[in-house]
Amino acid sequence: MKNTDTSVAEFSINQQFCDDILAGLTASPKYLEAKYFYDTRGDELFQDIMNCAEYYPTKCELEIFTRQTEELAQAIIADGSAFDLIELGAGDAMKSTHLLRHLLNQRAEFTYVPIDISGHVINYLQDALPAALPGLQLTGLTGEYFEMLEQAAQLSQRRKVVMFLGSNIGNMPVTDARQFCVELRSHLTAGDSVLMGVDLKKNPKIILAAYNDAQGFTREFNLNLLTRINSELRANFNIEAFEHYPTYDPQTGSCKSYLISLTDQQVQLCGQTISFAKDEYIYMEISQKYTVQQADSMANDSGFKPVCHFFDSKNWFLDAIWKAV
Ligand code: AVI
Repeated sequence: MKNTDTSVAEFSINQQFCDDILAGLTASPKYLEAKYFYDTRGDELFQDIMNCAEYYPTKCELEIFTRQTEELAQAIIADGSAFDLIELGAGDAMKSTHLLRHLLNQRAEFTYVPIDISGHVINYLQDALPAALPGLQLTGLTGEYFEMLEQAAQLSQRRKVVMFLGSNIGNMPVTDARQFCVELRSHLTAGDSVLMGVDLKKNPKIILAAYNDAQGFTREFNLNLLTRINSELRANFNIEAFEHYPTYDPQTGSCKSYLISLTDQQVQLCGQTISFAKDEYIYMEISQKYTVQQADSMANDSGFKPVCHFFDSKNWFLDAIWKAV
């Protein structure tokens, strides 16, 4: 029997994705949510970005995790009581692996609890990490950060140490970042701690170059979202008609990226027509930079006390330990 619904069956639109993209492109000014950068191609491009010469945050934080592993481990082990080491947005856990190995060598009593929205990531970590790190206790949780933190609290009464690395906090505007920290605190108990990775303000040229690499990975990373919308929402963006425009404002510490429409044009998506004027922008992403003092006040304002600062050798990146008070 011929299935007359073949096209519908083969092409199932993710309604949430469609709603969010439409909300952004019908708003004024237009925006797209950076969380949608990460499809398969977006993940590859982000790897390329992290490996390119100009993108320093990953290298700086990796340096902290490799050269100051002992000190980081001591700050986490603290009073020596058993703990759950929770990582929000664990990814490939490359940086944390150094810390985990050290904690195991120190015979620290802990369970590693990676949390990620992607089931693939968690399945990979559940297979790969115990093989690479014999003796590691691991409980992977797939889902939204705060829902999974609740689940982690149900699973064990142990003290919690939550890692939020890579300056992921920077992908929120300052007020949202503060709100995120307040909510994070509400899921913790006094005595729990957070290891927060924060990209610091520095020479503006260094920051801007990190978001405008010469090989064009960041440009493609941004444009790839239009390609994704084309393939998943049957849209017809002409990718060549948009240009990547990164900016950094040293006064506010906001590094923002935009896509600029190079011409008057119309795009069809989800049954709607979206018009772009020549030079109109789509706001794509913020990567907020902080001073150490600003990071400390964010901790203080959200119910934490900053207790330790770890810097890379250039003082470009901060991993801070915050204690819940
Ligand atoms: C994931 N996040 C911390 C990266 C950043 O630096 O804001 C995402 C990124 N966007 C462009 N380059 C890197």
